[in-house]
Amino acid sequence: MPIRAWFSTFIYSEPLQPAGLARLNEDLAEECHRIRDYDSAGRRWSAKNYLGGFTSYASMAQLHRSSSTFATLEKRITTHVRRFARRLDLDLRGRQIFMTDCWVNIMPERAAHSLHLHPLSFISGTYYVRTPPGCSGLKFEDPRLDRFMAAPPRRTAASPANRQFVVYPAEAGKVILFESWLRHEVAANPTAHERISVSFNYSWS
Ligand SMILES: [Fe+2]
Repeated sequence: MPIRAWFSTFIYSEPLQPAGLARLNEDLAEECHRIRDYDSAGRRWSAKNYLGGFTSYASMAQLHRSSSTFATLEKRITTHVRRFARRLDLDLRGRQIFMTDCWVNIMPERAAHSLHLHPLSFISGTYYVRTPPGCSGLKFEDPRLDRFMAAPPRRTAASPANRQFVVYPAEAGKVILFESWLRHEVAANPTAHERISVSFNYSWS
């Protein structure tokens, strides 16, 4: 082939573990609600910055250090992050990867999370706790979108590698990982039920 692909963008998506997800997700959902009830600073922050929903991003963002349920989640997610880092050919120079932040997101009907990236980390991701049928997925955009200049648009049926957006469905029990610079967003939840997820960042040192 005269043409090869370079500078690829990788996104990882796998079930957290082979079995026992329903029980874990029940425990996590209960704990997420308890955190929302307890975290008044988070509720105040969310009222301004996360309209209609709740996130502990700015108030309780080290849940893996204070809760055994979240510590279990951290341990399992770290296995996936190590695998992803190997696939990215990252040379960690003998250092360890570790979770720096871990927070809860509860999105009732119409709550949305606009386009953003995750600073101060190298791998980020989300674990899905509760995903009502029809709820919004996680939409990623081509990181080169601001450099397309006068390029024509892509065909609707463009091959996956040539698409400028991709939406990963939110599925309870699945973990999605991406490099922290990759911009993403969650469209407004169109269902009448809460969508619950746990997001996290990883660093290395
Ligand atoms: Fe995010």
